[in-house]
Amino acid sequence: MVILALDQGTTSSRAIVFDTALHPLASAQQEFPQHMPASGWVEHDAADLWATTAATARAAIERAGKSSREISAIGITNQRETTVIWNRKTGRPIHRAIVWQDRRTAETCQRLKAEGHEEAVSEATGLLLDPYFSATKIGWILDHVEGARASAQAGELAFGTVDSWLIWNLTGGKTHATDATNAARTLLYDIRKGAWSEDLCRLFNVPMALLPEVRDSAAAYGLTRSDLFGAEIPILGVAGDQQAATVGQACFQPGMMKSTYGTGCFALLNTGPQLVRSKDRLLTTIAYQLDGKPTYALEGSIFIAGAVVQWLRDGLGLIAKAGETQALAARADAGQDVVLVPAFTGLGAPYWDPDARGSIFGLTRATGPAELARAALESVGYQTRDLWEAMRKGWPGATETVLRVDGGMSANEPAMQFLADMLGAPVDRPKNVETTAKGAAYLAGWKAGLLPDPADYAKGWELNRRFTPAMEEAERERRYARWKRAVAATMSV
Ligand code: G3P
Repeated sequence: MVILALDQGTTSSRAIVFDTALHPLASAQQEFPQHMPASGWVEHDAADLWATTAATARAAIERAGKSSREISAIGITNQRETTVIWNRKTGRPIHRAIVWQDRRTAETCQRLKAEGHEEAVSEATGLLLDPYFSATKIGWILDHVEGARASAQAGELAFGTVDSWLIWNLTGGKTHATDATNAARTLLYDIRKGAWSEDLCRLFNVPMALLPEVRDSAAAYGLTRSDLFGAEIPILGVAGDQQAATVGQACFQPGMMKSTYGTGCFALLNTGPQLVRSKDRLLTTIAYQLDGKPTYALEGSIFIAGAVVQWLRDGLGLIAKAGETQALAARADAGQDVVLVPAFTGLGAPYWDPDARGSIFGLTRATGPAELARAALESVGYQTRDLWEAMRKGWPGATETVLRVDGGMSANEPAMQFLADMLGAPVDRPKNVETTAKGAAYLAGWKAGLLPDPADYAKGWELNRRFTPAMEEAERERRYARWKRAVAATMSV
């Protein structure tokens, strides 16, 4: 028997077939168009998200040489916060999906902040009043699509993050549900009570008739339509992608922390059954929910990590392929102290400054591509240190933590070594860096009774390489202090 994981991300949809030891057998991936109709706006065609998911699922099953009857369970993981609203009768979206990166509701968030709502919103949701989350995106669609508000009130429309949209399509409209980790990203879900909040729905003007039912991350979400894959397959696992990576990395113990380096970087620290509040503007969120019990996490989100390498390639043309960054950075002059603050789309945690823009400090006439490449890689280490500091302050139990890394950039050896140097703590890279899909597969496989409980699964986590700090303490602190000054200067320009 095998497990199918569907990973619907921001730039591509992927499907991976895993065996019951969670080794990947086959995979398929498809990109889809990004729509940017105005500055700061990012949209996806929800039909593309579904079509690429269905196509990659079929391709992966075929490549694995399996029949759909051999698939015991499906696990879904997804880009979070991205908002879809569709008609329950036709199943058609009423607008393109508004993507998590979209800033069009920044003014609404500002207004709600000025009216003094942020504290109550944070108390209930663990989040901040930022356009990143779903609630103001839902409001925007209802206000801009003719007749949408009335239809929503009449119960004719459904809202979902991408997981719900996929579940709806996979089950032929039979299930309108989400899991607690995705619900926790909407600004409408009270993470203390584990329920949608009437007060928040009123504040954001979202009719409750739109909302999906919230289930555990490992739960029965219905069967796939038989005509899709040739057999009815149970959907048994659902989690937002960063939460699924936390599960995939087996960060089940309080104090364990993972950091995923994709376009951006998202670090999650497991705080157990304890809901921890950060004074440094980290988010409090749900890491996973099993048997009705939420496990909480502190989360730090950085918007630009791997994307800084794309900028070296596409923006500056310094490299032809991302993989060339290491060799270029290795040629940098050790005597130059160039600092790059990649605030290309503002700064995320712990600064949350949507208006900041990138800057470079320490240029000399000798500065060239190599120094810029090194500064770009180092910016990822510095930003992670910012999150690390905030997490340690927010939760004293975090002092001894090792950081588990994954995602594309975790393959970059010098960047990971610099990260360990900057944290002054070990950085562990697992053998399998496909942790997001693996986490979704684990949730589904565990629910299907094919996989061991978390504690035993955690024993199977395999180290590929540990990066141990090699930088002198004084040098580390001198450099980090310089980074902090660079950020402060960037935010004040
Ligand atoms: O919160 C956004 C995050 O879930 C997106 O992740 O990997 O699709 O860029 P990714």
